[in-house]
Amino acid sequence: MQFDYSNKVKAMRPSIIRELLKQMADPGLISFAGGNPSADAFPAKEIREISDALLAGPPADVLQYSITEGYPPLIAQAKKYLNRQWQTVHEGDEVIITSGSSQVMDFMAKLLCNEGDVVATEDPAFLGALNAFRSQGATLVGVEMEPDGVSLAALEAVLSANPKPRFYYTIPNFQNPTGYTTSLAKRKAVYALCQKHGVPILEDNPYGELRFTGEDIPPIKAFDTDNLVVYAASMSKIFAPGMRVAFCAGSADLMGKMTVAKQGNDVHTNLWGQRVIDRFFEQYDIDAHIARLRGVYREKARRMMDAMDRELAGRATYVPVEGGMFLWLTLPAGCNVPGFVAKCLERRVALVPGSAFLVDEAAPCQSVRVNFSTPTGEQIDEGVAIMRQVLDSM
Ligand SMILES: Cc1ncc(COP(=O)(O)O)c(C=O)c1O
Repeated sequence: MQFDYSNKVKAMRPSIIRELLKQMADPGLISFAGGNPSADAFPAKEIREISDALLAGPPADVLQYSITEGYPPLIAQAKKYLNRQWQTVHEGDEVIITSGSSQVMDFMAKLLCNEGDVVATEDPAFLGALNAFRSQGATLVGVEMEPDGVSLAALEAVLSANPKPRFYYTIPNFQNPTGYTTSLAKRKAVYALCQKHGVPILEDNPYGELRFTGEDIPPIKAFDTDNLVVYAASMSKIFAPGMRVAFCAGSADLMGKMTVAKQGNDVHTNLWGQRVIDRFFEQYDIDAHIARLRGVYREKARRMMDAMDRELAGRATYVPVEGGMFLWLTLPAGCNVPGFVAKCLERRVALVPGSAFLVDEAAPCQSVRVNFSTPTGEQIDEGVAIMRQVLDSM
């Protein structure tokens, strides 16, 4: 049977990273290509204790169909959690539980975009989000990233263009793929510009809790007097991505529409995962858990930056990061990046070429994304030394 696919499906493309990860079963491979939490980051003992206790109770409490908006006690926990440092859930907002924040990306484009409508995004940006927007028929317009956030002049130009973007996508903390963090001044300016042009903001913040040095910066959602910002807080990077649980806060009207979209999509986020996370918030100290994660990532990031300073000084550059899981390594002009990535892979070091994260993947990009959360300290030292040898051989 030859299937006649829809235009939306024709616009879909497989994630190069998911494809790369398939080749990475090789235990000898040093992977700087993934974006997974460190294997020692999961609160496995606590999850086991909670699961045992839950399953000792009435099975239907954990295994039955549930409410589309999310398990009500977890929604209440989420509101407290999202407001504990800054107010991010405002009057006129509601919170729903989604199946990862990836679902929020998909629903935003589904709810706001007709075929061909423009979505403005930081460029480069998280590939999964770009692909979700593309799969809903959106046309992407990129706004150039700088180490302290997007170029405001470029953002103003994109927001003033005709047609106006349906929404603007941003990852203000330890961005995937660059590791860049948007400054407080730029966060305020981004909000003011989007407010002026009446363009909603999708603020994606899976890494904000993973700050291992420097001062926390309020999310854009904290300035949201107009219910303009949809804020996605994933539990994937601070709890466990396999749970597929995220909190989404935004205008009650939009959250209502998202709930209807969810009814026809996956009915509700898996109840067991929601209940485990709810109990974790109730019975354990989430801040102590996050403090432990910050320690794990601080050490790994330090090891990666030390290795780069030792091996790559004078050869390649990076902007030091204060949190998250990624570094953006820029190779010298003239160095063939796909060639470098291919040669590293031959030496069993995996990296993702920066162009994979661009709106226009064919545009030139001298950078590679380097993940430091999954490799061990020894792998970091060995992998970066191999990168130096490859660079020298080129
Ligand atoms: C910036 C960004 N947003 C969202 C996600 C997806 O998170 P989730 O597991 O909640 O779908 C990722 C995962 O890598 C990410 O890097």
